[in-house]
Amino acid sequence: MNLSVRDANLDLMQIEKVGIVGSGIMGSAIAEVTLLGGYKVTLHSRQSTTAHVMMQQLKDSFSKMVKREILLQSKANEAISRFEVTTEMRDLIDSDIVIESIIEDLETKRELFQRLDGLCKVDTILATNTSTLPVVEIAVATKRPELVCGIHFFNPAARMKLVEVVTPITVATSTVDTVISFVTSLGKEPVKVKDEAGFIVNALLFPLLNSAIYMLERHVASMEEIDRSMQLGCGFPMGPFRLLDLIGLDTSLKILETLHFESRSPSTVPAPTLRRLVAAGRLGKKSRCGFYDYGP
Ligand SMILES: NC(=O)c1ccc[n+]([C@@H]2O[C@H](COP(=O)([O-])OP(=O)(O)OC[C@H]3O[C@@H](n4cnc5c(N)ncnc54)[C@H](O)[C@@H]3O)[C@@H](O)[C@H]2O)c1
Repeated sequence: MNLSVRDANLDLMQIEKVGIVGSGIMGSAIAEVTLLGGYKVTLHSRQSTTAHVMMQQLKDSFSKMVKREILLQSKANEAISRFEVTTEMRDLIDSDIVIESIIEDLETKRELFQRLDGLCKVDTILATNTSTLPVVEIAVATKRPELVCGIHFFNPAARMKLVEVVTPITVATSTVDTVISFVTSLGKEPVKVKDEAGFIVNALLFPLLNSAIYMLERHVASMEEIDRSMQLGCGFPMGPFRLLDLIGLDTSLKILETLHFESRSPSTVPAPTLRRLVAAGRLGKKSRCGFYDYGP
């Protein structure tokens, strides 16, 4: 894949190599999506044990697609040959775009962007998959704020069509145009959105998810009944508690805290039960236990 985009200033911006930082739920899924998009992908993880796990995960996922006859075995093999997992940040040096998908914490992300800025070639686009954090504050941690924006994928990234392209006031039009073309090349539907907490989807979704927890705390109905009601009554693919578990309760808590910091809306004050579950290390599906139990 060789994506060429001409921006308003007729500068040619090319994306061939994608770097990804973070190997959690989203980083690993973004790796799969970008590999299937035809790009050369290097994923950075802090732990050396991740390489093997990631490679196996990817092979399993591609095998399932081959079985369902939506991917040819030869294409799967070719995609895997374009994939590399590393613990060395310097392996991202020549990436045309780096997508950060680490823990939802502003200071940690700012430090990472500073590091990437000092390391990557001068025209590398640096993007964050943050769910709510102010992208401008991440951008100004670098000396290239015009090349920094948000690329917000949805979970599960392989299936969800939407990608919010978040545009802080510091970003250049050419960066946004390049990113929109890149996202489109992945078979996703980009929506350009202002750099406001929660962007579109989480700003609307999280007050609802939080209200479901308060409803549970008031004993209005059981968790299962609330989930089933939203599926059968509103056509949700899954109820609020299953969705919170899928997103991750630590990430959900961070999202609500950021939304509340910016909006001060009572609907975004995190429900106490959410805090308690996170404190107990019950982080949702990824820790096999959250609102629901997912077995060993
Ligand atoms: N889970 C979702 O539904 C979802 C959807 C869209 C966007 N996001 C965003 O994607 C990002 C990652 O979320 P996730 O769900 O993949 O989380 P996760 O908990 O599955 O993974 C977090 C990753 O961050 C790494 N990490 C933790 N602390 C770190 C540190 N100090 N320095 C560097 N790396 C560190 C972990 O090793 C792990 O690889 C977050 O910004 C989140 O808001 C999440």
